[in-house]
Amino acid sequence: MFSKIIVAFTSLAVVVSAVPMRRATCSNGRTATDAACCVWFDVLDDIQQNLFDNSECGEDAHESLRLTFHDAIGFSPNLTAQGKFGGGGADGSIMAFAQIETNFHANIGVDEIVETQRPFALKHNVSFGDFIQFAGAVGVSNCAGGPRLQFLAGRSNISQPSPDLLVPEPSDLTDTILARMGDAGFSPNEIVDLLASHTVAAQDKVDPTIPFRKGTPFDSTPSSFDSQFFIEASDCRTLLQGTLFPGNGSNVGEVESPLLGEFRLFSDNELARDPRTACEWQSFILDHDSMVSKFEAVMAKLATLGQNPAELTDCSEVIPVPASVQLPAPTLPAGKSLADVQAACAATPFPALSAAPGPATSVAPV
Ligand code: HEM
Ligand SMILES: *[C@@H]1O[C@H](CO)[C@@H](O)[C@H](O)[C@H]1NC(C)=O
Ligand SMILES: *[C@@H]1O[C@H](CO)[C@@H](O)[C@H](O)[C@H]1NC(C)=O
Ligand SMILES: *[C@@H]1O[C@H](CO)[C@@H](O)[C@H](O)[C@H]1NC(C)=O
Ligand SMILES: *[C@@H]1O[C@H](CO)[C@@H](O)[C@H](O)[C@H]1NC(C)=O
Repeated sequence: MFSKIIVAFTSLAVVVSAVPMRRATCSNGRTATDAACCVWFDVLDDIQQNLFDNSECGEDAHESLRLTFHDAIGFSPNLTAQGKFGGGGADGSIMAFAQIETNFHANIGVDEIVETQRPFALKHNVSFGDFIQFAGAVGVSNCAGGPRLQFLAGRSNISQPSPDLLVPEPSDLTDTILARMGDAGFSPNEIVDLLASHTVAAQDKVDPTIPFRKGTPFDSTPSSFDSQFFIEASDCRTLLQGTLFPGNGSNVGEVESPLLGEFRLFSDNELARDPRTACEWQSFILDHDSMVSKFEAVMAKLATLGQNPAELTDCSEVIPVPASVQLPAPTLPAGKSLADVQAACAATPFPALSAAPGPATSVAPV
């Protein structure tokens, strides 16, 4: 008897949950689970065409991804514990108070993307904090083999300027980076996961004399989200012994790179070799899927620093699905051998990669 009643209730529950949820109707025949997400389809159309030059994984996409970090990492429970304002995290303060925050030394260069993005946020009347995270997620979705990041909408547009010295510098020692990122809630492995972003990075401010942009620590063709960065194999490569400066000398935050035309950050070089981070770093060499899924997980955390995710609306469905790529098996760059690798993970041997054929690799300007 009892069991019959339970069965009856159970099947009723199944029927109820099978009724499709009403979806909100947005522009151009698209629908969303929540009407609050509709505006993001319009923002998507606009920025894909007018900010990212028809959905490219180009410079504005890279700078937009970098900006998600420089806004969000202004968040310090340590300062709060000392009775000071610790920053609001992913709150758009870097855009609302650009005249203050973009003058912080670690934010050198981000003023350009802040001012490029601002009119789009104003036009669509969305908060600066939401816009910055949305643009970063859309921008990196344009990179082949890239992540599809979560996007939660509803951050307040009200913020205060972040305190200075919360954004890591490329000249920082690993201890400093681990402490600062740890204060914001990231483990050493999660810092490495975040640095998957540098697979699509270039620099132009650490060595401003280089007359063109070069692959930063990693990539000569920073248009795909390629784990070669971690390998230091075919073109970009952090674990190969450095031998040269791509510009005309050493700059603060720069160390020698292994390839003509490639640029290496001091901080990436250190994190790739530190016992606390080396194994996570090395683990991505052969595992692009793990790099992408861990990046997606850690970016969900970054994008909501200082926010209560439960109070935000999940509009992830608006973020495009990145093109998949058939990445070639990782190799060492032509002209390099395993003897050039500075493996630093004690627990796991460095994978037995062979070198690409042909003359010694150099990295073309981007
Ligand atoms: C240890 C922490 C980090 C340090 C020290 C660092 C440092 C740097 C530096 C110095 C540059 C070159 C900027 C220039 O000269 O134009 C750069 C570029 C970049 N960074 Fe980071 N970064 C860190 C973490 C991150 C994180 C967490 C993200 C994103 C999630 C990120 C995304 C990027 C991107 C996409 C670029 C390339 C920008 C472009 O090509 O215009 N970085 N980073
Ligand atoms: C967000 O704040 C800025 C000022 O910092 C203002 O110009 C903009 O209109 C605000 N946007 C919204 C959606 O309230
Ligand atoms: C813009 O957004 C703000 C805050 O959400 C709202 O108060 C205002 O009415 C909106 N303005 C327009 C023109 O929709
Ligand atoms: C917290 O702040 C104090 C004082 O500035 C500093 O000495 C300490 O290293 C910080 N700790 C972390 C984890 O950032
Ligand atoms: C580096 O390059 C810049 C610009 O090309 C030049 O002005 C400067 O003298 C160079 N410095 C050295 C040490 O070669």
